[in-house]
Amino acid sequence: MDGAQAKSVSQRVRQGMLTGRFLRNAWYVAAWGEELATGKLLARTILGEPVVLWRGADGKVTALEDRCPHRFAPLSLGHLLEGGQLQCAYHGLEFGADGMCVNNPHGTRNIPSRAKAISYPVVERHLAVWIWMGDKPADPARIPNFDIMDDVPALHVMPLDRIVVKANYELVVDNLLDVSHTSYLHEGILGNKETVESETPVRLDGDDVIVDRYSPNATPPGMFTPFWPGHPPRVDKFSSTRWMAPCYLKLHTGICAPGAPKETGTGYHGIHMLTPEDEQSTHYFFTAVRWGVKTDDETNRQQRERVGKLRRFAFEEQDGPVIEAQQQVLDKARRNLDPVILSTDVGPVRYKHVLERLLAAEQG
Ligand code: FES
Ligand SMILES: [Fe+2]
Repeated sequence: MDGAQAKSVSQRVRQGMLTGRFLRNAWYVAAWGEELATGKLLARTILGEPVVLWRGADGKVTALEDRCPHRFAPLSLGHLLEGGQLQCAYHGLEFGADGMCVNNPHGTRNIPSRAKAISYPVVERHLAVWIWMGDKPADPARIPNFDIMDDVPALHVMPLDRIVVKANYELVVDNLLDVSHTSYLHEGILGNKETVESETPVRLDGDDVIVDRYSPNATPPGMFTPFWPGHPPRVDKFSSTRWMAPCYLKLHTGICAPGAPKETGTGYHGIHMLTPEDEQSTHYFFTAVRWGVKTDDETNRQQRERVGKLRRFAFEEQDGPVIEAQQQVLDKARRNLDPVILSTDVGPVRYKHVLERLLAAEQG
């Protein structure tokens, strides 16, 4: 981060709008499991640090800092040897999965004790590869619970997708925890004018913040209608979004006949996993798992692709440009900005309080 960027971040901290900081002792999604083909290196910046990941012949995933301790060439430019070592492309030092240099082909072949790359704990769970970059022990029990993705028919899981949003992760969380924007930014797809006047109660569950939204007797938004051939002309639309620190969101959403129990309807669990690339960029991993499936397998197959593309369109082409433009406006601000808070902003305000508390506890 250069001086101007640092100033920009600290300015936002003063404004109380963005912390600009990361919780380091937390699990973050480094990649979808399917992104890591055996023997291929994947370079990714996470929490501002360069990381290289690969899946070994035994199926295990390794994550090292993507910086050779010799002359700092990215290790991701190197290649994997048959024994599983990663060989630096520049001068051929070889590293094991624990980051230790195991071969120096030069001179006396002495291996200096500092010849090691940081090795990060990784766990593969819920179709994702989770990485721990904190200084405290990595406890896999702290991986957030996304077991709704496990043991479900593959056709009910939307494609595992990822985009990069050039904005601080908090702006993306703000967007996801504020369902009111769906009536405008995603009009016709995820909301409409009839869903504006919705109740939006906010609950706390430990450190989790849950925002519910209920729109009774509305025209069903286009995302849901193919899920339910012969759906009623009007429906109750509902959503419940759970934020889990620092930046995971689970959304239970759907439609049902007016006044009927929700379980009799159909919808999906939206899964949103955010990983800060740095202070001004976010890896946005997303997918969804359908529930109350009322269609046959062939229809499900078609919907898997169609709904996957529609959700990507909503996030990449509707949310993304607005969020990135917000970031640019914040960066250019020459005075303290004090956002107007609406009733629909209770969720975003609440999670920031929790996040600030967790950050303060971690950073003293
Ligand atoms: S920079 Fe990696 S071996 Fe020299
Ligand atoms: Fe959105």
